Amino acid sequence: MKLTLKIWRQAGPDAKGAMVDYPIDGISEDMSFLEMLDVLNDKLIREGQDPVAFDHDCREGICGMCSLYINGRPHGPERHITTCQLHMRKFKDGDTIYVEPWRSAAFPVIKDLAVDRGAFDRIQAAGGFVSVNTMGNLVDANALPVPKAHSDKAFDAAACIGCGACVAACPNGSAMLFVSAKVSQYALLPQGRPEAKERALNMVEQMDAEGFGNCTNIGACSIECPKDISLENIARLNREYLVAEMTKES
Ligand code: SF4
Ligand code: FES
Repeated sequence: MKLTLKIWRQAGPDAKGAMVDYPIDGISEDMSFLEMLDVLNDKLIREGQDPVAFDHDCREGICGMCSLYINGRPHGPERHITTCQLHMRKFKDGDTIYVEPWRSAAFPVIKDLAVDRGAFDRIQAAGGFVSVNTMGNLVDANALPVPKAHSDKAFDAAACIGCGACVAACPNGSAMLFVSAKVSQYALLPQGRPEAKERALNMVEQMDAEGFGNCTNIGACSIECPKDISLENIARLNREYLVAEMTKES
């Protein structure tokens, strides 16, 4: 396949960025999108040019690192996959493909297509965990009964890989879908209840401090989420937060 890539190049966080054209040839339809970028970077390096910086790690839809905005959509044109799972057969010979980083004030560009998603780590550290006594009195996991419907919903919420596509898709730059998935995966399980109020309050407080926008129920986050995280989780987060706020000790 012969393609024209229009890629966002930005030398550093404070540098002025611009779209740059890269014609590329010899791309197999069996390549992944990231392998296609590898081919481009090999060519750039051979020509003595600066390769395009982009994030990736697992390349199998698990780590959430491959955060690219492709032809105006997070993770490209296919639903329920990450950029690393996108294959070139989804494009046609002669296509022009626009490749940009996530656009959000809370995800500043580090270089080219790589953004700093440390805000998600700080939100997670503010409450996305359960405190467990590991000093020799471990309880067998099966000893605590969990209704099947609850464990299924908790599992679905836990599928969130923290990629940030929900933020990139949202015109408000809201992180509510991510935070709601992280709150829900514990709120639905008995192990998560003891710290549920602190978790909801602390994670929402950190989310606001990081500069993410407010949710106005547009729903683009869930549509563009590669893991199909449901808006139902945002409703649960709102309930968890309301109860925590109304009952907290002053
Ligand atoms: S909710 Fe979906 S889009 Fe948002 S970070 Fe999690 S997996 Fe990515
Ligand atoms: S590189 Fe890990 S999800 Fe894409």
